[in-house]
Amino acid sequence: MKKISIIGAGRVGETAAHTLAQQQTFREIALLDIREGAAAGAALDIMQSASYFGFDTRVTGSTDPASLQDSDLVVVTAGSPRKPGMTRSDVLQINRAVIDEICDNVLEYAPDALLLMVTNPVDVLTWHAWKRTGWDRRRVFGQAGVLDASRMACFIAEETGLSIKDIHAMVIGGHGDYMVPLTRFSTVNGVPASTFLDDESIARINKRTRHGGSEVLALRQLSSAYNAPAAAIATMADAISHNRRRVLPCVCNLDGEYGESDITAGVPAIIGHSGIEQVVELPLDEAELAGFQASIDAIRADLENL
Ligand code: 2OP
Repeated sequence: MKKISIIGAGRVGETAAHTLAQQQTFREIALLDIREGAAAGAALDIMQSASYFGFDTRVTGSTDPASLQDSDLVVVTAGSPRKPGMTRSDVLQINRAVIDEICDNVLEYAPDALLLMVTNPVDVLTWHAWKRTGWDRRRVFGQAGVLDASRMACFIAEETGLSIKDIHAMVIGGHGDYMVPLTRFSTVNGVPASTFLDDESIARINKRTRHGGSEVLALRQLSSAYNAPAAAIATMADAISHNRRRVLPCVCNLDGEYGESDITAGVPAIIGHSGIEQVVELPLDEAELAGFQASIDAIRADLENL
């Protein structure tokens, strides 16, 4: 793939652009933001780091939606972030209007692209973007589980003292307090993570994973998390661009998988050039399924407020 556009040159969008530029995943990265100069300034700043990082990716910034033209992948990070004490659902109405306009621009200028949603509440807004575009469900998906799983991996590393390089975690469900960290599907180089954890440490890991974003926000006060979210975007963009067919937890539109339809939620999926190639169904036990269903209920409640 040659061109990625990132809508929203806030901290998440800008950091994702810088990461992807350094990885030289795309030839061109177009940043787009309605705030005059925000995207152009970010792009210029990134380009001025190119000689030290040794990349020749072309990064541009604009307020003009026509800059989306020829995008292979469009990432949507624009919208109002939550403030301390707010849930992701609290920004639903304001961000829905933002997404409407963005979808219309994508339909006009990048009608053949894939659409990766990041703006919160991401499960519901991925659904909304899918409806608004009318595209095949494989082309419209969201980022949440890659971030949540990397937070869980970080906490498993902290609790066990083992190298994070060996840790693979899995989180499904909605990107909110009802997300479902799956210890049973998390491993340390193939060894079940539970081998190294007692019940109390598992409980601590799950709690911190569910509140991973809030913990950062409560500490920083002035900004939500952006380094880990940007890394998650770059991971998905790389998998798509190189058609790696990675199995990553993504916000997918479910059509019978996990017994659910007419909803978007985080589940593992094979992701590559065409977007979501296939949803992977995990053999969940009773407690895991109950957690997943509670998560689905929370997303449905948000969908009713759309
Ligand atoms: C997070 O979890 C803001 O949803 C984002 O950090």
